Amino acid sequence: MKVLVIGSGGREHALVWKLAQGKSVDRLFWAPGNAAPRVDPKITLLSVDPTDIEGLAAAATKEKIDLTVVGPEAPLVAGVSDLFRERGLAIFGPVKAGARLEGSKVFSKEFFLKHQIPTGKAASFSKYEKAIAYSREQPKPLVIKADGLAAGKGVIICAKQEEVESTLHQIMNQRVFGDAGQNVLIEECLTGPEVSVHAITDGKSYQVLPSVQDHKRVFDGDRGPNTGGMGTYSPAPIFTQELEKRVRAEIFDRTLAGLKAEGISYCGVLYAGLMLTPDGPKILEYNCRFGDPETQVLMMRLKSDLAEALLAACHGKLDRVQLDWHSDAAVCVVLAAGGYPGSFRKGDVILGLDDETSAHGCVFHAGTLRKGEDVVTNGGRVLGVTARGADLGEAIQRAYEMADRIQFQGKHCRRDIGGKALISYKQ
Ligand code: AMP
Ligand code: GLY
Repeated sequence: MKVLVIGSGGREHALVWKLAQGKSVDRLFWAPGNAAPRVDPKITLLSVDPTDIEGLAAAATKEKIDLTVVGPEAPLVAGVSDLFRERGLAIFGPVKAGARLEGSKVFSKEFFLKHQIPTGKAASFSKYEKAIAYSREQPKPLVIKADGLAAGKGVIICAKQEEVESTLHQIMNQRVFGDAGQNVLIEECLTGPEVSVHAITDGKSYQVLPSVQDHKRVFDGDRGPNTGGMGTYSPAPIFTQELEKRVRAEIFDRTLAGLKAEGISYCGVLYAGLMLTPDGPKILEYNCRFGDPETQVLMMRLKSDLAEALLAACHGKLDRVQLDWHSDAAVCVVLAAGGYPGSFRKGDVILGLDDETSAHGCVFHAGTLRKGEDVVTNGGRVLGVTARGADLGEAIQRAYEMADRIQFQGKHCRRDIGGKALISYKQ
Protein backbone atom coordinates (compact mmCIF):
# COMPACT_ATOMS: atom_id res chain seq x y z
CA MET A 1 0.00 0.00 0.00
CA LYS A 2 0.93 3.67 -0.30
CA VAL A 3 1.14 5.57 2.98
CA LEU A 4 1.29 9.31 3.69
CA VAL A 5 2.64 10.69 6.99
CA ILE A 6 1.81 14.29 7.93
CA GLY A 7 4.25 16.32 10.07
CA SER A 8 7.93 17.16 10.36
CA GLY A 9 9.16 16.23 13.84
CA GLY A 10 10.87 13.35 15.62
CA ARG A 11 7.54 11.61 16.17
CA GLU A 12 6.92 11.61 12.44
CA HIS A 13 10.43 10.37 11.62
CA ALA A 14 9.87 7.47 14.02
CA LEU A 15 6.51 6.69 12.39
CA VAL A 16 8.04 6.86 8.90
CA TRP A 17 10.95 4.65 10.01
CA LYS A 18 8.61 2.00 11.41
CA LEU A 19 6.04 2.17 8.60
CA ALA A 20 8.81 1.76 6.00
CA GLN A 21 9.80 -1.56 7.61
CA GLY A 22 6.31 -3.01 7.08
CA LYS A 23 5.91 -5.62 4.36
CA SER A 24 2.53 -4.12 3.49
CA VAL A 25 4.08 -0.75 2.56
CA ASP A 26 5.27 -0.25 -1.03
CA ARG A 27 5.71 3.51 -0.99
CA LEU A 28 5.79 6.18 1.68
CA PHE A 29 5.15 9.90 1.29
CA TRP A 30 6.08 12.35 4.01
CA ALA A 31 4.67 15.88 4.13
CA PRO A 32 6.76 17.92 4.64
CA GLY A 33 9.37 15.78 6.48
CA ASN A 34 12.77 17.00 7.66
CA ALA A 35 16.45 16.26 6.96
CA ALA A 36 16.25 12.63 8.09
CA PRO A 37 18.30 10.50 5.71
CA ARG A 38 16.03 8.66 3.34
CA VAL A 39 18.13 5.57 2.97
CA ASP A 40 14.98 3.79 1.95
CA PRO A 41 14.22 4.63 -1.70
CA LYS A 42 10.53 4.04 -1.12
CA ILE A 43 10.26 7.30 0.90
CA THR A 44 9.37 10.52 -0.96
CA LEU A 45 8.99 13.99 0.56
CA LEU A 46 6.03 16.18 -0.39
CA SER A 47 6.34 19.87 0.23
CA VAL A 48 2.87 20.47 1.63
CA ASP A 49 2.41 22.24 4.95
CA PRO A 50 0.61 20.20 7.66
CA THR A 51 -1.93 23.00 8.08
CA ASP A 52 -2.78 23.07 4.36
CA ILE A 53 -5.45 20.42 4.68
CA GLU A 54 -6.83 21.02 1.15
CA GLY A 55 -3.32 20.60 -0.25
CA LEU A 56 -2.84 17.37 1.73
CA ALA A 57 -6.14 15.90 0.50
CA ALA A 58 -5.28 16.85 -3.08
CA ALA A 59 -1.84 15.21 -2.75
CA ALA A 60 -3.36 12.06 -1.23
CA THR A 61 -5.86 11.80 -4.10
CA LYS A 62 -3.19 12.44 -6.73
CA GLU A 63 -0.78 9.87 -5.31
CA LYS A 64 -3.59 7.35 -4.68
CA ILE A 65 -2.67 7.07 -1.00
CA ASP A 66 -4.21 4.08 0.80
CA LEU A 67 -3.53 5.24 4.35
CA THR A 68 -2.68 8.63 5.86
CA VAL A 69 -1.22 8.91 9.37
CA VAL A 70 -1.41 12.31 11.07
CA GLY A 71 1.40 13.30 13.45
CA PRO A 72 0.57 16.69 15.03
CA GLU A 73 -2.67 17.89 16.57
CA ALA A 74 -3.09 21.13 14.59
CA PRO A 75 -4.28 19.50 11.32
CA LEU A 76 -6.66 17.26 13.31
CA VAL A 77 -8.16 20.23 15.15
CA ALA A 78 -8.43 21.99 11.77
CA GLY A 79 -10.44 19.06 10.35
CA VAL A 80 -7.99 17.16 8.13
CA SER A 81 -9.70 13.86 8.95
CA ASP A 82 -13.17 15.21 8.21
CA LEU A 83 -11.97 16.35 4.78
CA PHE A 84 -10.16 13.08 3.99
CA ARG A 85 -13.20 11.04 5.02
CA GLU A 86 -15.47 13.21 2.80
CA ARG A 87 -13.15 12.39 -0.09
CA GLY A 88 -13.20 8.66 0.70
CA LEU A 89 -9.55 8.61 1.87
CA ALA A 90 -8.54 6.38 4.81
CA ILE A 91 -6.93 8.46 7.55
CA PHE A 92 -5.68 7.53 11.02
CA GLY A 93 -6.52 10.46 13.28
CA PRO A 94 -9.80 11.66 14.77
CA VAL A 95 -12.28 14.03 13.15
CA LYS A 96 -12.54 17.60 14.43
CA ALA A 97 -15.23 16.71 16.98
CA GLY A 98 -12.95 14.04 18.50
CA ALA A 99 -9.84 16.23 18.38
CA ARG A 100 -11.61 18.63 20.75
CA LEU A 101 -10.53 16.23 23.50
CA GLU A 102 -7.13 17.84 23.03
CA GLY A 103 -8.13 21.10 21.33
CA SER A 104 -10.35 22.33 24.16
CA LYS A 105 -9.51 21.75 27.81
CA VAL A 106 -12.98 22.95 28.80
CA PHE A 107 -14.63 20.44 26.46
CA SER A 108 -12.42 17.59 27.67
CA LYS A 109 -12.98 18.40 31.34
CA GLU A 110 -16.75 18.45 30.79
CA PHE A 111 -16.41 15.16 28.93
CA PHE A 112 -14.47 13.57 31.84
CA LEU A 113 -17.00 14.74 34.38
CA LYS A 114 -20.03 13.70 32.31
CA HIS A 115 -18.67 10.20 31.72
CA GLN A 116 -17.32 9.58 35.24
CA ILE A 117 -13.69 9.49 34.15
CA PRO A 118 -11.52 10.20 37.23
CA THR A 119 -9.97 13.67 36.97
CA GLY A 120 -9.20 16.74 39.08
CA LYS A 121 -12.04 18.98 40.23
CA ALA A 122 -12.32 22.07 38.04
CA ALA A 123 -14.50 24.93 36.87
CA SER A 124 -14.40 26.90 33.61
CA PHE A 125 -14.77 30.64 33.11
CA SER A 126 -15.09 33.11 30.28
CA LYS A 127 -15.33 36.15 32.59
CA TYR A 128 -12.21 37.33 34.41
CA GLU A 129 -14.07 38.66 37.50
CA LYS A 130 -15.91 35.37 38.00
CA ALA A 131 -12.67 33.41 37.62
CA ILE A 132 -11.02 35.60 40.27
CA ALA A 133 -13.95 35.25 42.67
CA TYR A 134 -13.94 31.43 42.33
CA SER A 135 -10.18 31.17 42.72
CA ARG A 136 -10.28 33.05 46.03
CA GLU A 137 -12.49 30.33 47.50
CA GLN A 138 -10.18 27.47 46.44
CA PRO A 139 -7.22 26.00 48.32
CA LYS A 140 -3.79 26.65 46.75
CA PRO A 141 -1.86 25.61 44.77
CA LEU A 142 -4.24 25.93 41.83
CA VAL A 143 -3.72 24.97 38.21
CA ILE A 144 -4.80 27.48 35.55
CA LYS A 145 -5.29 26.20 32.01
CA ALA A 146 -5.98 28.17 28.85
CA ASP A 147 -8.80 26.41 27.01
CA GLY A 148 -7.29 26.18 23.52
CA LEU A 149 -4.02 24.97 22.03
CA ALA A 150 -1.11 26.99 23.42
CA ALA A 151 1.91 25.06 22.14
CA GLY A 152 2.14 23.12 25.40
CA LYS A 153 2.53 26.32 27.44
CA GLY A 154 -1.06 26.94 28.53
CA VAL A 155 -0.89 25.16 31.91
CA ILE A 156 0.36 27.16 34.88
CA ILE A 157 0.63 25.89 38.44
CA CYS A 158 0.16 28.77 40.89
CA ALA A 159 1.30 28.40 44.47
CA LYS A 160 -0.26 31.63 45.79
CA GLN A 161 -3.37 33.73 45.15
CA GLU A 162 -1.28 36.64 43.75
CA GLU A 163 0.14 34.29 41.13
CA VAL A 164 -3.34 32.99 40.32
CA GLU A 165 -4.57 36.52 39.75
CA SER A 166 -1.66 37.67 37.61
CA THR A 167 -1.89 34.44 35.55
CA LEU A 168 -5.62 34.93 34.98
CA HIS A 169 -4.96 38.54 33.99
CA GLN A 170 -2.28 37.53 31.50
CA ILE A 171 -4.36 34.78 29.94
CA MET A 172 -7.82 36.36 29.95
CA ASN A 173 -7.13 40.09 29.60
CA GLN A 174 -3.73 40.34 27.98
CA ARG A 175 -4.33 37.21 25.88
CA VAL A 176 -0.74 35.99 26.05
CA PHE A 177 -1.97 32.75 24.43
CA GLY A 178 -4.26 34.56 21.99
CA ASP A 179 -7.75 33.12 21.55
CA ALA A 180 -6.72 30.01 23.50
CA GLY A 181 -7.33 32.21 26.55
CA GLN A 182 -10.93 33.11 25.75
CA ASN A 183 -11.94 30.53 28.34
CA VAL A 184 -9.93 29.17 31.24
CA LEU A 185 -10.11 26.18 33.47
CA ILE A 186 -9.25 26.47 37.14
CA GLU A 187 -8.30 23.07 38.46
CA GLU A 188 -7.28 21.52 41.76
CA CYS A 189 -3.61 20.64 41.94
CA LEU A 190 -3.11 16.88 41.96
CA THR A 191 0.01 15.15 43.17
CA GLY A 192 1.78 11.94 42.22
CA PRO A 193 4.00 10.53 39.50
CA GLU A 194 2.93 11.03 35.90
CA VAL A 195 2.80 8.46 33.15
CA SER A 196 1.76 8.56 29.49
CA VAL A 197 -0.47 5.79 28.23
CA HIS A 198 -1.39 5.58 24.57
CA ALA A 199 -4.24 3.58 23.13
CA ILE A 200 -5.12 3.25 19.48
CA THR A 201 -8.79 2.89 18.68
CA ASP A 202 -11.19 2.51 15.79
CA GLY A 203 -14.01 3.83 17.96
CA LYS A 204 -15.25 0.31 18.77
CA SER A 205 -12.31 -1.43 20.36
CA TYR A 206 -8.92 -0.21 21.50
CA GLN A 207 -5.42 -1.49 22.18
CA VAL A 208 -3.26 -0.09 24.93
CA LEU A 209 0.35 0.46 23.91
CA PRO A 210 3.25 -0.04 26.34
CA SER A 211 3.62 2.65 28.99
CA VAL A 212 6.07 5.52 28.52
CA GLN A 213 7.57 8.06 30.88
CA ASP A 214 8.37 11.51 29.51
CA HIS A 215 10.76 14.08 31.05
CA LYS A 216 9.13 17.45 30.57
CA ARG A 217 11.51 19.78 32.40
CA VAL A 218 14.58 21.00 30.58
CA PHE A 219 17.22 20.23 33.24
CA ASP A 220 18.34 17.13 35.15
CA GLY A 221 16.41 16.30 38.28
CA ASP A 222 13.19 17.73 36.76
CA ARG A 223 14.31 21.31 37.16
CA GLY A 224 13.83 24.34 34.92
CA PRO A 225 11.00 25.27 32.58
CA ASN A 226 8.68 22.82 30.85
CA THR A 227 9.47 21.62 27.34
CA GLY A 228 7.71 19.47 24.77
CA GLY A 229 9.67 16.55 26.26
CA MET A 230 13.43 16.06 26.73
CA GLY A 231 13.41 12.28 26.65
CA THR A 232 11.44 9.13 27.29
CA TYR A 233 11.77 5.55 28.37
CA SER A 234 9.52 2.55 27.97
CA PRO A 235 8.27 0.52 29.73
CA ALA A 236 7.59 2.65 32.81
CA PRO A 237 7.93 0.20 35.71
CA ILE A 238 5.59 2.35 37.77
CA PHE A 239 2.73 1.41 35.46
CA THR A 240 1.99 -2.06 36.78
CA GLN A 241 -0.46 -4.58 35.29
CA GLU A 242 -2.83 -3.83 38.10
CA LEU A 243 -2.77 -0.13 37.26
CA GLU A 244 -3.27 -0.91 33.59
CA LYS A 245 -6.39 -2.90 34.45
CA ARG A 246 -7.75 0.06 36.37
CA VAL A 247 -6.89 2.54 33.63
CA ARG A 248 -8.66 0.36 31.06
CA ALA A 249 -11.81 0.08 33.15
CA GLU A 250 -11.98 3.59 34.59
CA ILE A 251 -10.50 5.64 31.77
CA PHE A 252 -10.40 4.02 28.33
CA ASP A 253 -13.65 1.98 28.55
CA ARG A 254 -15.53 5.03 29.77
CA THR A 255 -13.95 7.27 27.15
CA LEU A 256 -15.01 4.97 24.32
CA ALA A 257 -18.52 4.68 25.73
CA GLY A 258 -18.64 8.48 26.11
CA LEU A 259 -17.48 9.09 22.53
CA LYS A 260 -20.11 6.65 21.28
CA ALA A 261 -22.81 8.30 23.39
CA GLU A 262 -21.87 11.68 21.92
CA GLY A 263 -21.94 10.34 18.38
CA ILE A 264 -18.23 10.95 17.76
CA SER A 265 -16.66 8.34 15.49
CA TYR A 266 -13.09 8.32 16.82
CA CYS A 267 -10.33 6.59 14.88
CA GLY A 268 -6.86 7.44 16.08
CA VAL A 269 -4.73 7.74 19.18
CA LEU A 270 -6.03 8.43 22.66
CA TYR A 271 -2.96 9.51 24.56
CA ALA A 272 -3.79 9.87 28.21
CA GLY A 273 -1.60 12.01 30.44
CA LEU A 274 -2.19 10.41 33.84
CA MET A 275 -1.29 11.32 37.36
CA LEU A 276 -1.05 8.40 39.76
CA THR A 277 -2.56 10.13 42.78
CA PRO A 278 -3.02 8.60 46.24
CA ASP A 279 -6.71 8.21 45.24
CA GLY A 280 -5.86 6.27 42.10
CA PRO A 281 -5.05 7.19 38.50
CA LYS A 282 -6.59 10.45 37.30
CA ILE A 283 -6.50 11.95 33.85
CA LEU A 284 -4.83 15.32 33.39
CA GLU A 285 -5.44 15.54 29.69
CA TYR A 286 -6.02 13.66 26.50
CA ASN A 287 -3.97 14.22 23.40
CA CYS A 288 -5.55 13.10 20.15
CA ARG A 289 -2.24 12.05 18.57
CA PHE A 290 0.94 10.17 19.36
CA GLY A 291 3.28 11.78 21.89
CA ASP A 292 6.61 13.27 20.92
CA PRO A 293 9.13 11.87 22.05
CA GLU A 294 6.94 9.00 23.33
CA THR A 295 6.49 7.68 19.77
CA GLN A 296 10.24 7.28 19.30
CA VAL A 297 10.51 4.66 22.06
CA LEU A 298 7.21 3.00 21.13
CA MET A 299 8.27 2.55 17.51
CA MET A 300 11.65 1.21 18.68
CA ARG A 301 9.77 -1.51 20.62
CA LEU A 302 7.09 -2.34 18.06
CA LYS A 303 7.54 -5.58 16.13
CA SER A 304 4.35 -5.64 14.05
CA ASP A 305 3.56 -4.05 10.71
CA LEU A 306 2.25 -0.63 11.80
CA ALA A 307 0.53 0.26 8.51
CA GLU A 308 -1.54 -2.92 8.58
CA ALA A 309 -2.74 -2.16 12.11
CA LEU A 310 -3.59 1.49 11.43
CA LEU A 311 -5.38 0.66 8.17
CA ALA A 312 -7.42 -1.98 10.01
CA ALA A 313 -8.37 0.73 12.54
CA CYS A 314 -9.50 3.03 9.69
CA HIS A 315 -11.79 0.23 8.51
CA GLY A 316 -13.21 -0.46 11.97
CA LYS A 317 -11.37 -3.77 12.22
CA LEU A 318 -8.82 -3.09 14.93
CA ASP A 319 -10.09 -6.11 16.89
CA ARG A 320 -8.60 -8.36 14.19
CA VAL A 321 -5.09 -7.03 14.75
CA GLN A 322 -2.56 -8.11 17.33
CA LEU A 323 0.31 -5.72 18.02
CA ASP A 324 3.53 -7.43 19.12
CA TRP A 325 6.23 -5.67 21.11
CA HIS A 326 9.87 -6.34 21.92
CA SER A 327 10.18 -7.12 25.60
CA ASP A 328 13.35 -4.96 25.63
CA ALA A 329 13.43 -1.45 27.04
CA ALA A 330 13.88 1.66 24.90
CA VAL A 331 15.17 5.13 25.68
CA CYS A 332 15.07 8.38 23.72
CA VAL A 333 17.40 11.27 24.57
CA VAL A 334 16.46 14.58 22.98
CA LEU A 335 19.32 16.79 21.79
CA ALA A 336 18.07 20.36 21.95
CA ALA A 337 19.25 23.63 20.42
CA GLY A 338 20.97 26.29 22.54
CA GLY A 339 18.34 28.37 24.31
CA TYR A 340 15.49 25.85 24.06
CA PRO A 341 12.77 25.98 25.45
CA GLY A 342 13.20 29.76 25.20
CA SER A 343 14.16 31.38 21.91
CA PHE A 344 16.79 29.16 20.37
CA ARG A 345 19.50 29.16 17.74
CA LYS A 346 18.93 27.81 14.24
CA GLY A 347 21.24 26.98 11.36
CA ASP A 348 24.10 25.34 13.30
CA VAL A 349 25.83 22.54 11.42
CA ILE A 350 25.34 19.11 12.98
CA LEU A 351 28.41 16.85 13.03
CA GLY A 352 28.70 13.14 13.74
CA LEU A 353 25.60 12.02 11.90
CA ASP A 354 27.41 9.31 9.92
CA ASP A 355 26.20 6.53 12.11
CA GLU A 356 22.53 7.21 12.44
CA THR A 357 21.08 3.75 12.45
CA SER A 358 22.45 0.69 14.14
CA ALA A 359 21.12 -2.67 15.15
CA HIS A 360 20.13 -1.17 18.48
CA GLY A 361 19.00 2.32 17.70
CA CYS A 362 18.22 5.20 15.46
CA VAL A 363 18.80 8.95 15.52
CA PHE A 364 15.38 10.39 14.80
CA HIS A 365 15.47 13.84 13.24
CA ALA A 366 13.14 16.48 14.67
CA GLY A 367 14.25 20.07 13.98
CA THR A 368 16.71 19.54 11.13
CA LEU A 369 17.15 20.98 7.66
CA ARG A 370 19.37 20.00 4.75
CA LYS A 371 21.53 22.89 3.54
CA GLY A 372 23.71 21.83 0.63
CA GLU A 373 25.88 19.01 1.95
CA ASP A 374 25.18 19.90 5.57
CA VAL A 375 22.42 19.07 8.00
CA VAL A 376 21.69 22.08 10.21
CA THR A 377 19.56 22.71 13.29
CA ASN A 378 16.11 24.04 12.49
CA GLY A 379 14.04 23.60 15.66
CA GLY A 380 14.18 23.55 19.45
CA ARG A 381 14.27 19.80 19.71
CA VAL A 382 16.82 18.83 17.08
CA LEU A 383 17.32 15.07 17.33
CA GLY A 384 15.84 12.18 19.34
CA VAL A 385 18.58 9.62 19.88
CA THR A 386 16.75 6.37 20.53
CA ALA A 387 18.11 2.97 21.51
CA ARG A 388 16.87 -0.40 22.60
CA GLY A 389 18.54 -2.69 25.17
CA ALA A 390 17.87 -5.92 27.00
CA ASP A 391 17.12 -3.79 30.03
CA LEU A 392 16.74 -0.12 30.74
CA GLY A 393 20.38 0.24 31.84
CA GLU A 394 21.65 -1.09 28.51
CA ALA A 395 19.22 1.09 26.53
CA ILE A 396 20.36 4.19 28.45
CA GLN A 397 24.01 3.40 27.86
CA ARG A 398 23.51 2.84 24.14
CA ALA A 399 21.42 6.00 23.70
CA TYR A 400 24.02 8.20 25.42
CA GLU A 401 26.88 6.60 23.46
CA MET A 402 25.11 7.57 20.24
CA ALA A 403 24.12 10.99 21.59
CA ASP A 404 27.70 11.85 22.59
CA ARG A 405 29.01 11.24 19.05
CA ILE A 406 26.80 14.04 17.72
CA GLN A 407 27.91 17.66 18.03
CA PHE A 408 26.48 21.06 17.21
CA GLN A 409 26.90 24.53 18.66
CA GLY A 410 24.70 24.98 21.74
CA LYS A 411 23.70 21.29 21.94
CA HIS A 412 22.20 20.32 25.26
CA CYS A 413 20.45 17.28 26.63
CA ARG A 414 19.45 15.84 29.96
CA ARG A 415 21.90 13.28 31.34
CA ASP A 416 19.34 11.54 33.55
CA ILE A 417 16.79 10.14 31.11
CA GLY A 418 15.53 6.85 32.54
CA GLY A 419 17.47 7.33 35.76
CA LYS A 420 14.35 7.47 37.91
CA ALA A 421 13.23 4.07 36.70
CA LEU A 422 16.69 2.56 37.23
CA ILE A 423 16.50 3.61 40.86
CA SER A 424 13.03 2.13 41.28
CA TYR A 425 14.20 -1.13 39.62
CA LYS A 426 16.99 -1.44 42.12
CA GLN A 427 14.81 -0.82 45.16
P1 AMP B 1 -1.48 19.09 30.54
O1 AMP B 1 -1.17 19.86 29.28
O2 AMP B 1 -2.89 19.24 31.02
O3 AMP B 1 -0.97 17.68 30.54
O4 AMP B 1 -0.54 19.76 31.62
C1 AMP B 1 0.86 19.85 31.48
C2 AMP B 1 1.51 19.47 32.77
O5 AMP B 1 0.98 20.28 33.83
C3 AMP B 1 1.21 18.04 33.21
O6 AMP B 1 2.10 17.14 32.61
C4 AMP B 1 1.37 18.14 34.70
O7 AMP B 1 2.73 18.08 35.06
C5 AMP B 1 0.85 19.52 35.02
N1 AMP B 1 -0.57 19.47 35.42
C6 AMP B 1 -1.66 19.57 34.64
N2 AMP B 1 -2.80 19.49 35.34
C7 AMP B 1 -2.42 19.34 36.63
C8 AMP B 1 -3.13 19.20 37.87
N3 AMP B 1 -4.46 19.22 37.93
N4 AMP B 1 -2.39 19.05 38.98
C9 AMP B 1 -1.05 19.06 38.96
N5 AMP B 1 -0.32 19.18 37.85
C10 AMP B 1 -0.99 19.32 36.68
N1 GLY C 1 5.66 14.61 25.08
C1 GLY C 1 4.46 15.29 25.31
C2 GLY C 1 3.53 15.38 24.19
O1 GLY C 1 3.72 14.83 23.13
O2 GLY C 1 2.50 16.04 24.35
